[in-house]
Amino acid sequence: MTDGSINLRDYIRDVPDFPKPGILFRDITPLLKSPVAMSAVIDRLAAPFIGQQIDVVAAAEARGFIFAAPLAIRLNAAFVPIRKPGKLPFESHSLTYDLEYGSDTVQMHVDGVAPAQRVLVLDDLLATGGTVDACCQLLEKCDAEIVGCAFVINLKGLGGEQRLSKYKLHSLLTYE
Ligand code: PRP
Ligand code: ADE
Repeated sequence: MTDGSINLRDYIRDVPDFPKPGILFRDITPLLKSPVAMSAVIDRLAAPFIGQQIDVVAAAEARGFIFAAPLAIRLNAAFVPIRKPGKLPFESHSLTYDLEYGSDTVQMHVDGVAPAQRVLVLDDLLATGGTVDACCQLLEKCDAEIVGCAFVINLKGLGGEQRLSKYKLHSLLTYE
């Protein structure tokens, strides 16, 4: 099977009512079981950023990590993990952001990015955009330059594109 003949939609399983009633969960685990489809995903995520001098691919745990590490290798860039509080062992920067109810915090090591480094932010899925917005704010607090944000799946209609409208967005699959 060649890259061009792979329909990534065939590798996403729809699970109704997970994690709660009314949510249609887009399950990536069938994709993760196919090395051929995964290789196509990494190629397609990388394509618009080849030759763009990406220094760092950054991603939030957990599902973002799965794609960000091989993408970083493909782009000859560093992979920098962004984690929930208390997970990183070294001195870290934090960013706290508002949720509908309450707040959340993301952290990154202080040596994760250097000022002016060119960063591609990666996640498996774009919904409200809250996760990637927080990652971008944390990276910008460290004076990194966000070159773009890439996603395997874009769930349209949940406000993510609007929330991240100041960034170049690239997604492989869109669900209305
Ligand atoms: C999911 C997904 C994205 C985020 C998208 O992560 O992997 O990171 O939600 O939603 P948003 O655009 O509204 O922020 P989740 O928080 O479920 O964590 P996980 O990756 O650990 O499963
Ligand atoms: N993260 C947020 N919404 C999601 C959905 N519908 N499917 C999978 N992951 C999600």
